[in-house]
Amino acid sequence: MVSESHLRPEDLVAPLFVREGIDEAQPISSLPGQFQHTRASLRAEVRELAQLGVPAVVLFGVPERKDPEGSEAWNPDGIMQLALQDLRDDHGDDMVLIADLCVDEYTDHGHCGVLDNKGQPDNDRTLALYRNIAIAQATAGADIVAPSGMMDGQVAAIRDALDDGSFEQTAILAYAAKYATALYGPFRDAVDVTIVGGGNRKGYQQDVANAREAMEEIRSDIAEGADMVMVKPAMPYLDVIARARAEVDVPIAAYHVSGEYAMVHAAAERGWLELEPVALEHTLAIKRAGADMILSYFSRMLAEAMQ
Ligand code: PBG
Repeated sequence: MVSESHLRPEDLVAPLFVREGIDEAQPISSLPGQFQHTRASLRAEVRELAQLGVPAVVLFGVPERKDPEGSEAWNPDGIMQLALQDLRDDHGDDMVLIADLCVDEYTDHGHCGVLDNKGQPDNDRTLALYRNIAIAQATAGADIVAPSGMMDGQVAAIRDALDDGSFEQTAILAYAAKYATALYGPFRDAVDVTIVGGGNRKGYQQDVANAREAMEEIRSDIAEGADMVMVKPAMPYLDVIARARAEVDVPIAAYHVSGEYAMVHAAAERGWLELEPVALEHTLAIKRAGADMILSYFSRMLAEAMQ
């Protein structure tokens, strides 16, 4: 009766990977219980999530062919687009389909944009690619596109492209305060991404030391037309979630990322922690801090526990 926060399956979003050119779902060793799905195994997984009451999934595509621009990301027959169509066919409007919008899974160099002659993403040339991806994803049935590349002006460019393409109803969930954390490692295994030359994303993702800067990113994404904003990772940035909740009125998403999930699993495997109570505590803390929706690899396990 006196609990101030409650978790429900409706709070959860399940991140899922779909890979082109495989016959069977491949387990991801650094993300126990998670898979690179085939189109068929993805459909089966999403059916089960729907039955558990999880209202939304966020999809990541792993193409067979990578190139300098990441052109498979906007190929109408690319793996992401085919998977979106499958899920739209299966669920109609009963499952919210969020498409991660970025090129790092699709580029041969692993950066989130097309590179300039210094080997860093060229911000403005990348925006043109993001516009193409937004149209491809919306055409394939995405309800929400979620730009995760942290290019300046990406939300405005995508909103403009969607409106031009008569996708006024397609929403934007902006990865607004996305930190250059050391916690994305297992994800990069999941999408077969190695950043060329041992590089990193500190040139475009947030400095982990900064919270005021995160608020500036959140405000500018909302001004550019973001319908929802995200803080990522979640647990080390609860202060940013709480601050965002106090300052803005759009829905706030938080992403409990691959490294956060992997840490809990690794400790549980050693018998040092109990998996489910720790997963629940993490997720409830993120809710308490002010997140309206939580992207988590624990979504399925938690939803099962809540039945
Ligand atoms: C980029 C993207 C990343 C994640 C989601 N979208 C990785 C990155 O920026 O390197 C990380 C998610 C996770 O760690 O679970 N497309």
